Amino acid sequence: MRDKLKKLKEEALSVINSAKNKMELTELENRYFGRKAGELTIILRGLKDLAEVNRKSAGELANEVKSLLEEAINEKRGILSLVEFETRLDEEKNDVSQPSLPPLEIGHYHPNTLVQRELEELFTSMGFMILDGPELESEYYNFTAVNVPPTHPARDMQDTFYIKNHPDWVMRTQTSAMQVRAMQKYGAPLRAIVPGKCYRNESTDSRHEHTFYHLEGLAIDKEINFSHLKGVMGLLVKQLYGSDAKFRLRPKYFPFVEPGVNGEVTCFLCHGVGCRVCKNSGWLEIVGAGMIHPNVLKEGNIDPKIYQGFAFGFGLSRLVMLKYGIEDVRLLESGDLRFIKQF
Ligand code: PHE
Repeated sequence: MRDKLKKLKEEALSVINSAKNKMELTELENRYFGRKAGELTIILRGLKDLAEVNRKSAGELANEVKSLLEEAINEKRGILSLVEFETRLDEEKNDVSQPSLPPLEIGHYHPNTLVQRELEELFTSMGFMILDGPELESEYYNFTAVNVPPTHPARDMQDTFYIKNHPDWVMRTQTSAMQVRAMQKYGAPLRAIVPGKCYRNESTDSRHEHTFYHLEGLAIDKEINFSHLKGVMGLLVKQLYGSDAKFRLRPKYFPFVEPGVNGEVTCFLCHGVGCRVCKNSGWLEIVGAGMIHPNVLKEGNIDPKIYQGFAFGFGLSRLVMLKYGIEDVRLLESGDLRFIKQF
């Protein structure tokens, strides 16, 4: 029995040591310790049949061999794990000379949006709320409600796109279409701006586009007068173009204001000398404005004897052109990435 055990020990230690991977090791574990046919298990099981005199010493030796083999297996398993880990490290190691992937291109805001956001911040800081309105608008809100009755020649100046079979619908020509909607919904006092897309049937050139952006504003309260309008316009010009930008107001007719004005700033291209962008005047129109006509207030269910207000409509696209020195309005809606990527 003792010889058998010794032989088994020598043999087992040598095969365990030369096991090449964990699978081989598990097989060896089974071969010696398997519950049914493990070589050592069988010997241990046979101990009880030995003569009493031999049993004790054989038992001791058998247990010794058992723990020796278990230890050897555990130790080998540890070594194999380390080897496996190292080979994996070797396989996965980073190649620092490998060229990197091209970076993902990240988009950014359109210049229209940049200017719109800047103005939204300025106006909300003065207590104006921001409203959104429909681009497909009723003829009533776009024209009639703002004091432009069906026969009025001002309708001709703002020819637009009409919808087949819907004679009362138009693509809005101005954000002024939101004036009466806002009054009807919120009443007075009221401070609101309405940035948004407008449409006109234009033959396009560097200053005209069939699709463009306006930013409307109105302030209605009990003691609003023309100087409030002028103050707010002046603030906006300073915000966008810096404190030395020049600004002037000149009388102009709009059916929905009385008196009405045109606001102009010095031309970004020629700085007032005169060029093709400003039609040699040195000035560029950026805003139409005035004191809200009593008819419009009435249409919005506001009593013109109690409340007054001013309204203005900036050509947002025009403000963007001025701010960034863009000479052709058509670039803004062109979808041309070579243009857009410059901002
Ligand atoms: N809606 C006018 C335009 O499109 C601008 C404007 C707005 C004028 C508000 C006066 C008051 O030209």
